[in-house]
Amino acid sequence: MNAPSTGKRQLLIDTDTASDDAIALIMALRAPEVEVVGITVVAGNVPLEQATQNALYATELCGSEVPVFSGAAEPMQGKLETAQWFHGRDGLGDHGYAPSHRKPASETAVDAMIRVTSAHPGIELITLGPLTNVALALQREPRLIENISRCVVMGGAPCCEGNVTPAAEFNIWVDPEAAQIVFRSGLPIEMIGWQLSRGAAVVDEDEIEAILGLGTSFADFAVRCNSFAIEAYLTQTGERGICLPDPVAMSVLIEPALCRQSSKHYVEIETASELTRGMTVVDRLNVAGDSRNTHVWEPALRSNAKASICWELEVPGWKAALMRALQ
Ligand code: BDR
Ligand code: CA
Repeated sequence: MNAPSTGKRQLLIDTDTASDDAIALIMALRAPEVEVVGITVVAGNVPLEQATQNALYATELCGSEVPVFSGAAEPMQGKLETAQWFHGRDGLGDHGYAPSHRKPASETAVDAMIRVTSAHPGIELITLGPLTNVALALQREPRLIENISRCVVMGGAPCCEGNVTPAAEFNIWVDPEAAQIVFRSGLPIEMIGWQLSRGAAVVDEDEIEAILGLGTSFADFAVRCNSFAIEAYLTQTGERGICLPDPVAMSVLIEPALCRQSSKHYVEIETASELTRGMTVVDRLNVAGDSRNTHVWEPALRSNAKASICWELEVPGWKAALMRALQ
């Protein structure tokens, strides 16, 4: 892992900032192990301008002056479909948070991603939204992959159900063409699928009380900005509590041992089928190279790019990391 003179690992975050992204930003900005060198913003949960505003708000809450770069306003093909039905119109539960005093940097997210990764070889990247910015940067500068030591992707639903369609998870479904480019790029991807943040990983009612009991502005904000998402998640899954996919991914970025079990596989992204568009098809049993499959899996085999899929999260460790970040 990269550890420059500050002794901290350097991190670039790409985010479509809404309620769970905001908590992930707080975790990273307050973690002693990492130095966030930039935040690039992409449209996804909310339109780009709102996502940028939300990212700035989270940085200001942390007293951070890290630059925030605005990026792609639309997916590579087609129109943006937001998740305001899940996070609220402003992405933060519609509580009317005052606009941040901070302004976005003038450089675009794609320019910044290329510059920052080449200035900080060994940097780690985490993606918390659709992969549009990363795909556009890779198209412009494929050598980007040489400087990135880890690429943690919150996205996908390996071998299980999606949260937008029965087959697809939101971040991949919004821009499958971008996801396909990224998964075939050779980036050292660690995939943190949506399923890892469900069930026991959901922050339940007692844990919400414990968070509020911390009495900090971070804790209050974390619970409050998820008020809309709590209801939406209950309707969607029948599970009570706060489901936090991006903070789960951030906890694994900061503390890799929180992923208890992983294995490397080819992953293809469905871009065509109306039924399964945005599906992350994981070659879990390593059969892509069998003769009956090679004609379909040829691009993945040719790229020789396997992603590390996290299958199991250390749940108490994840919750401890969350509490630490909000205290
Ligand atoms: C992902 O989609 C968004 O709504 C969340 O911020 C998270 O990145 C979960 O599917
Ligand atoms: Ca997100």
